[in-house]
Amino acid sequence: MSDTGAGLTGIPLFSVKNLSMNFLSSGEGTVFRALRNISLEIYEGECLLIAGSNGSGKTVLMKILAGLLDPSGGEVLFRGKRLGDAGRELRRSVGLVFQDADSQILGETLEEDVAFGPKNLGFSREETAEKTETALRMLGLWEKRHAQPRRLSGGEKRRLAAAGILAMGCGLMILDEPFANLDWPGVMQVLKIIKTLKEKGKTVVLLTHELEKALAFADRLIILHAGELRAEGKPEKVLERLESAWGVRDPRQNYAGVADCTWLPP
Ligand SMILES: Nc1ncnc2c1ncn2[C@@H]1O[C@H](COP(=O)(O)OP(=O)(O)OP(=O)(O)O)[C@@H](O)[C@H]1O
Ligand SMILES: [Mg+2]
Repeated sequence: MSDTGAGLTGIPLFSVKNLSMNFLSSGEGTVFRALRNISLEIYEGECLLIAGSNGSGKTVLMKILAGLLDPSGGEVLFRGKRLGDAGRELRRSVGLVFQDADSQILGETLEEDVAFGPKNLGFSREETAEKTETALRMLGLWEKRHAQPRRLSGGEKRRLAAAGILAMGCGLMILDEPFANLDWPGVMQVLKIIKTLKEKGKTVVLLTHELEKALAFADRLIILHAGELRAEGKPEKVLERLESAWGVRDPRQNYAGVADCTWLPP
């Protein structure tokens, strides 16, 4: 049991201890330390926002959590199990929405794309069809089910990726830079996904430096800077300690308080 200072207690979904990630620069033989001694927890049902400027290590951390990248050091436990031993459970539970949603497209139509996940998990034809329809309807894409995924707009592609994850029944969704390259309606679409996920009790991890768009949804805020975890806790408390060198802007400059920090109208 642990207490994060944000009122979250219990057994964490993820427990990361002294994590490090080094990359060897090809040719030069030098080592680049992308993550340094990171320790953090992710709790079931929370919305965690991980902020940090370009190159701070957000995407690398996400890839390690999802089992796509092996860390150089430290330990990552998923529901108390080492990542390597949690393989199938991890794949069933953790869904990623990449910044480049194009790379996640698997089907020729939206319906086929979303069905891919449940089919792969061994659900029957009927179950797969039902899960696909529910997820597409939930994300407002059912009318476009026969369309080609590549023709969707950027915001719609992220919604499609989220639908695929919901259809697999993942309890945790990690969204990497979900607002990148989106116009105002696109940002709204993504914020609606986050709101829906929260309402369904899913665990949501947002990796972004755009606090002004989504901080209102966050139960907890973590700041990464140059591969180090610099601050962690309730958003208000972390903002009090914000250092300009971290390259993250305090969104409250333009809002009354943390609860207002979103582009989604009330
Ligand atoms: N495969 C790799 N080989 C070498 N260096 C890498 C590799 N992957 C990431 N890095 C480096 O690790 C650092 C962290 O990268 P990461 O993609 O996690 O940053 P980020 O916080 O997601 O940034 P952004 O906000 O731009 O998405 C960067 O300096 C990046 O160049
Ligand atoms: Mg990134």
